[in-house]
Amino acid sequence: MDHIEQRIGDLRKELNRHNYLYYVQSQPVISDYDYDMMMEELERLEKEYPQYADPNSPTQRVGNDINVEFRQVKHQYPMLSLDNTYSESELADFDERVRKELTGNYRYVCELKYDGLSVSLIYRHGELLRAVTRGDGLQGDDVTANVRTIKSVPLKLHGADFPEEFEIRGEIIMPNNVFEKLNVERTETGETPFANPRNAASGTLKMQNSALVAKRSLDCFLYFLLGNHLPTDSHFQNLQKAREWGFKIPSYAAVCAGVPEIRQFIAEWDAARYTLPFGIDGIVIKVDSLAQQRQLGIRAKSPRWAVAYKFPAERVETQLNSISYQVGRTGAVTPVANLEPVRLAGTTVKRASLHNADQIQLLDIRVNDTVYVEKGGEIIPKVVGVNLDKRPADSQPTLFVTHCPECGGALQRNEGEAAWFCANNNCSPQIKGRIEHFISRKAMNIDSLGEGKIEMLYDNGLVCNVADLYLLKEDQLVGLEKIIVDDNGNRRKISFGRRTAENMLAGIEASKQAPFERVLYAIGIRYVGETTAQKLVRNFKTIEALAAASHEQLLAIDEIGERIALSVTDFFAQPNNTDMIERLKKAGLQFAVDESAFRQKSEVLKGKSIVVSGIFSIPRDNIKKMIAEHGGKNVSAISSGTGYVLAGEKMGQEKLKKAETLKIPVISEEEFYRLIGN
Ligand code: IVH
Repeated sequence: MDHIEQRIGDLRKELNRHNYLYYVQSQPVISDYDYDMMMEELERLEKEYPQYADPNSPTQRVGNDINVEFRQVKHQYPMLSLDNTYSESELADFDERVRKELTGNYRYVCELKYDGLSVSLIYRHGELLRAVTRGDGLQGDDVTANVRTIKSVPLKLHGADFPEEFEIRGEIIMPNNVFEKLNVERTETGETPFANPRNAASGTLKMQNSALVAKRSLDCFLYFLLGNHLPTDSHFQNLQKAREWGFKIPSYAAVCAGVPEIRQFIAEWDAARYTLPFGIDGIVIKVDSLAQQRQLGIRAKSPRWAVAYKFPAERVETQLNSISYQVGRTGAVTPVANLEPVRLAGTTVKRASLHNADQIQLLDIRVNDTVYVEKGGEIIPKVVGVNLDKRPADSQPTLFVTHCPECGGALQRNEGEAAWFCANNNCSPQIKGRIEHFISRKAMNIDSLGEGKIEMLYDNGLVCNVADLYLLKEDQLVGLEKIIVDDNGNRRKISFGRRTAENMLAGIEASKQAPFERVLYAIGIRYVGETTAQKLVRNFKTIEALAAASHEQLLAIDEIGERIALSVTDFFAQPNNTDMIERLKKAGLQFAVDESAFRQKSEVLKGKSIVVSGIFSIPRDNIKKMIAEHGGKNVSAISSGTGYVLAGEKMGQEKLKKAETLKIPVISEEEFYRLIGN
């Protein structure tokens, strides 16, 4: 080994050690400066000597700018969820079932239930090999590049007594302070704030650029070890061992002999949960012995050896000062309670949801009432009742607004629906809502824009239609100002800088490359979601053909019914919509299928209708694309005319039977690849 390789190895080891001391143990022993110096040296050496590159080098924690579509990976062991219990008696029932099944003594481990998203990490020869999200429990997204940026996830393990290959599962979370800071930033830069730390963690982990993930300070707590050669038969002991290997195993766990001790653990954490720097939504109780876990076994979706106890929502009393009415992006009017500020679930609450007019009437909620406010799983608290004993004598029943607080138009209500809504398409929240939909991730995916920026553009008269976005010029943007009022009523002015403006325009420009199906989804035809947009595009190929399609032609398409067909024809009958499309076309957006992207590769499936059913190793849409590329046609229902049934895992028994009865060949994923010569 030459001395360069030696030096690189030493630096990596040292940096890994300090990283562990800082992020896992929270006990740094060197200064940030010394750490940075070592990192710089390593970066320089790796650049100069690329032959020593290693994806698990500490330098790789900063991520990279390459955009990736996540690969789907099958889990070796399905990722189960937990049965929930909400009361002590349900907990006692759980213990009763465990006792009946097991012969010998048993004990439990109680852990916190971290409120994030679960992840499966695979280690081979002591190095992180792969990180996969839960997905549907059977397969998930390969998020290795993003997980590498989480500093508390070890890239190389300590010691030598770990199994050659094993899996460890845990929860990726965003600490509360990181979440709050991120939302302040997002509000200031005009992006949509996240609803809660869990959504923020999940949104971050699914970003396609790992360099951005690296900036978000996620954390990862591990709580479950799987594999064939685990160190001991005890879940608790194994986790202690995993801690020695360098994993962040929270020390909030306790071994409990039975229900009384579990109860005590729950009570302690129910009281102390808001002192934690991250969110938890309950307690997880697991049988400790792995042999006993196997004896108890699993149900379809959850193990019999574990259960989650969910904390009851916290509830407080406070005074309702007034009711205001918010008009949403769809025009629906939501009543909001303005409350006397009160502490609830770790935060100060001043506003709460009142749902809709029916709910106000049902609970007879009135201004100046003392109301009960609750925070459930969602971040927005809700008013759940009135303390009638405290109602003032002169109180008056609430009359719901009759006119839109934004545009003054009369509100309407559809038969059978709870919400009142403003029927004026040109009411400003709806206009902004359409633009927000247009830029959203699954539509044009312009993430340099967000709620706040759209508001600023709209308020300044620069954008009142999605087509206006494509006319924006940098000079119009630089210097635009907006006043932000935070929760404490403090007002601050933010203004657009040149960098922000450039960045925004680059995002808008890049969106011109978005394929037709995304554009079709983005223009917001009612009831046309992503999948429907794809279907329409596959069938009509161009916007002109779609606009000219008759009601009957639309209905003839698989899975397009009366409601969607009507909505499509209605959309194209309105001149303001066709005007908008003309303007977007002029701007250079894609309104036709890019035929070059679709290459006819062979005709082996020519004339064959193929039904695809079950779970595959790659996304189902890719399979459908392959069918088309080889001349076949994908259909949804099995009939006597079906050429093949392509059967994935867990395909429905009924379909299988039908194929047998009709004597239709059923082929596996592998056979399919062989058929198309792949
Ligand atoms: S054990 C087979 N332990 O809760 C059981 N899960 O509702 C595997 N979670 O999907 C899970 N904290 O994402 C376990 N200490 C903990 C947990 C935990 C949070 C999550 C996990 C799981 C979900 C089930």
